[in-house]
Amino acid sequence: MEQCPTAHVLIFPFPAQGHVNSMLKLAELLGLAGIHVTFLNTDFIHERLVRYSNIETRFRCYPGFQFKTVSDGLSADHPRALDKFMELYDSLNSKTKPLLREMLASNQLGSNTRPSLTCIIVDGLISSFTSDIANELQIPIIYFRTISASCFWAFFSLPHIIEAGELPVRGNEDMDHLITTVPSMESFLRYRDLPSFCRGIDLNHINLPIFLTETQRSPQAHALILNTFEDLEGPALSHIRTHCSKVYTIGPLHSLLKFQLEAKKSLSQSQSSNSLFEMDRSCMTWLDAQPLKSVIYVSFGSISTMTKDEHMEFWFGLVNSKKRFLWVLRSDSVVGEPDRNEVPIELVEGTKERGYIVNWTPQEEVLAHHAIGGFLTHSGWNSTLESIVAGVPMICWPYFGDQQLNSRFVSEVWKLGLDMKDVCDRFIVEKMVNDLMGERREEFMKSKTKMARFARKSVSEGGSSYCNLGLLVEDIRLMSIGAD
Ligand code: UDX
Repeated sequence: MEQCPTAHVLIFPFPAQGHVNSMLKLAELLGLAGIHVTFLNTDFIHERLVRYSNIETRFRCYPGFQFKTVSDGLSADHPRALDKFMELYDSLNSKTKPLLREMLASNQLGSNTRPSLTCIIVDGLISSFTSDIANELQIPIIYFRTISASCFWAFFSLPHIIEAGELPVRGNEDMDHLITTVPSMESFLRYRDLPSFCRGIDLNHINLPIFLTETQRSPQAHALILNTFEDLEGPALSHIRTHCSKVYTIGPLHSLLKFQLEAKKSLSQSQSSNSLFEMDRSCMTWLDAQPLKSVIYVSFGSISTMTKDEHMEFWFGLVNSKKRFLWVLRSDSVVGEPDRNEVPIELVEGTKERGYIVNWTPQEEVLAHHAIGGFLTHSGWNSTLESIVAGVPMICWPYFGDQQLNSRFVSEVWKLGLDMKDVCDRFIVEKMVNDLMGERREEFMKSKTKMARFARKSVSEGGSSYCNLGLLVEDIRLMSIGAD
């Protein structure tokens, strides 16, 4: 890949784990290609990244790389949980916008050694206010979406679904009824697979208008970057390309980065993390002591929560399955006050015998461990891609947003696992764990091996994601020549 000493990109993720994680991977790939990168975090996110990850030392080896921070407009102790999404979103639009505008207008990101900005790569979830600024200052803007291409396409089709009267979902519909207005998904997309915010009494319900407008403006960007690969999501990508002229599919990003770091052997990636949580590596030692493919890994990502009842149903289901399990339970995973009732003795004993519970794991390493045989996941897009690359079949329990649709693709389209959406019952958990880890294991073997091979091929030299990254770098380099 050619060096491009004059290109300088600003990368700005939405302030949440899944978004920051994948955009940091993109930043590192651009750094490897010799592009100057300014990575902009909110103060809140950056403080946690510095506390819990090795980003500062890791990015020091890229001379053109710098971190900058900006306020998200909320006080330090203001909760940033999912139920406060609108407060964060509104604050970014009203408070962060003028700060960013000032930062760019006064060229605070350039210096004697750092060229002025060539372009901005912004999280598509905050494309409205950032593109206002980019247009005003005449800086090209590229959108990065952290969701699957299929989900992007479903979001993009929302006006069409609404027009056809298939939305909103008011609650009295047959949730298994097929949605007919998302081209390429007519034969399998049900009401229950639509993004969670479509389940509301009216069309202004919570997040729907945001996802609709932020997605609809995508064709106006210079380009769209998606963390996916061609062999995985061909049909959705074909449709997206009829609206957005330049779409760079460069995923799975974690795998592409790993491949490129290995190719440049001077750079070590050992134990790299972009984590906002304190990692507990003791689970790796526990895994080392478990037999081949005997453990079900349970993690619902960085934001999902469950009620106390759901927590108990999962716990009983896992213990009763008699399978070994490694379970990520963040301190805020279960909502409400801690239960004063004693934990049933069979759960304590069963967990002591076959389970291990931690606050946060090095997930990519966990999924690649030989002891892991299955993944009970919330179907976040990063987790889904990580599981596909590792060739681990999934049980999906989607929580919000894109996850409802991802889980449908996992079970029905890619045949990589089972979908447990809208159900949380100890008997079903037990049955699905036993099916995935035992009786129905063979059913997923062929497709998981095939998809993992396609993923590897896409990031290897000559593969689609490998080549698309090259084209993206070239595109940025040409923009910088144009700007000189
Ligand atoms: C959310 C959405 O669910 C996701 O679909 C969207 O694209 C981004 O925002 P999140 O819910 O956190 O993200 O899930 P996910 O996308 O799966 O990202 C979680 C990340 O945290 C993964 O990269 C995973 O490897 C990492 N993780 C999770 C750990 O490193 N350790 C853990 O213990 C759990």
